[in-house]
Amino acid sequence: MIKIIEKIDELRKTLKEYRKNNKTIGFVPTMGYLHEGHASLIKRSSNENDITVVSIFVNPIQFGPNEDLDKYPRDLERDKKVAVENGANIIFHPKVSEMYPEKLYTFVNVENLDKELCGAKREGHFQGVATVVTKLFNIVNPDRAYFGKKDAQQLAIIKKMVKDLNFDIEIIGCEIVREEDGLAKSSRNSYLNQEEREAATILKKTLDKIREMIDNKETNVKKIIDMAVENIEKEPLAKIDYVEIVDLYTLEKVEEIKNDILVAMAVYIGKTRLIDNFDYKFN
Ligand code: PAJ
Repeated sequence: MIKIIEKIDELRKTLKEYRKNNKTIGFVPTMGYLHEGHASLIKRSSNENDITVVSIFVNPIQFGPNEDLDKYPRDLERDKKVAVENGANIIFHPKVSEMYPEKLYTFVNVENLDKELCGAKREGHFQGVATVVTKLFNIVNPDRAYFGKKDAQQLAIIKKMVKDLNFDIEIIGCEIVREEDGLAKSSRNSYLNQEEREAATILKKTLDKIREMIDNKETNVKKIIDMAVENIEKEPLAKIDYVEIVDLYTLEKVEEIKNDILVAMAVYIGKTRLIDNFDYKFN
């Protein structure tokens, strides 16, 4: 039986009991509308821990004023099923007033790593993510926490935050889960109509072309990006937000490919902003 808990105190009390009995706790933070990407994280956590907690919380402080906070999709009943099927024991589903009962004066900023990629376009987004993840870590106090590589910058930021602030939590990055045609699974895919859904495959197709160039020893980033931009622009429904190649660890832009890199893009398909990426390692 899965427990759905809305209150911080109740969750803490429940987890204290498990910890007293030396149970390990795995944690999967999400904003709900769970799909196979989330499911893979939950499954991995339940394989590696005695107890798995999934949080479902659409965190208002990580959304900009013109973003999709109000229309972000929600379906707790379905989420419950996905969580159970993949071995979760507890869903933490707090109200906004439970997480933010008063005006917040304290925020977590992971500097520098939030400058490039999505950080350049979504001001304050990663501060909102780092702050809510810190709160959730302090509430759940897990042994391990699971994040998807789909949000590569978020993963890098959380890993650095955990190191810098001495959280005693192992952060585990999980591979991107995709649809059959390559589109990375995302709760936001539900915004796409059929025509847009087909156009959305341009992200993965372009990433594959980039990978092929790098496999063929192309090291000039400008050449690669020019090819990628041209390729995406052939799709009439696509509008590029960014296509970048950055150092995998510092997330700083590189001009030449010599070391491990992250190739990342954000592209609007119609009104929906989609992200995708891959990392490329040399040893
Ligand atoms: P959300 O977008 O719901 O994603 C929750 C977790 O699922 C993240 O770690 C994300 O990287 C992972 N995920 C999403 N799609 C995936 C896919 N196709 N394959 C693998 N993993 C995937 O990310 C957030 O929520 C929030 O920012 C959060 C961390 C919960 C803080 O509010």
